[in-house]
Amino acid sequence: MAEHGSQAVAGGAITTFAALRAAEAACTRCPLYRAATQVVPGQGPARARLMMVGEQPGDHEDLQGAPFVGPAGRVLDRAIVAAGIDRGTVFVTNAVKHFKWEPRGKRRLHKKPNAHEIERCRWWNEIERALVRPELVVALGATAAASLMGRAVTIGRVRGRLLAGRDGEPVVVTIHPSYLLRLRDPADKTREYDRFVADLRLCAEHLRAAA
Ligand code: URA
Repeated sequence: MAEHGSQAVAGGAITTFAALRAAEAACTRCPLYRAATQVVPGQGPARARLMMVGEQPGDHEDLQGAPFVGPAGRVLDRAIVAAGIDRGTVFVTNAVKHFKWEPRGKRRLHKKPNAHEIERCRWWNEIERALVRPELVVALGATAAASLMGRAVTIGRVRGRLLAGRDGEPVVVTIHPSYLLRLRDPADKTREYDRFVADLRLCAEHLRAAA
């Protein structure tokens, strides 16, 4: 991982959020920048104890330039509060910083990022982690888990446990909130939402114990 808040890039080092945002805005590390409206950088306090990493911006995020501002973000916000975490203390970002989509009529349909895109974009999250220095990183879903763990993981097998990420950082893997939006059965929805909140509560407890 990048050392202590600085990462060498062509022509210098990124040591501030302003520099990071400028560099991200000019990103051409994979082809996704071509079809996206804009890059969507991480957002939150500069020194957050907790960082949450999603998959990639959705349609709303792509248009607004901020992470988790659409329907999945509303579920996430609710779950964070239910877990006893102050939403304002969390740095929220994505494993992939541009919206990947395909046209379906007039709509832009979300497309999963591939392994190459995830790997190319990991660079930006490494810098985010070097600047924010979170004590705990939450991987929301399989894409974030693959990026942080450096390998594909089965969420059901590893969720809700304290793991070591590929750079040695403490990671908790859980579901992506959009999974809850896709569930149709109300009982399934309630059960899975409660499990999601329980995973986040574990993160809160871990931070309390480390304080
Ligand atoms: N889904 C994500 O993974 N990230 C967002 O920012 C929005 C939806």
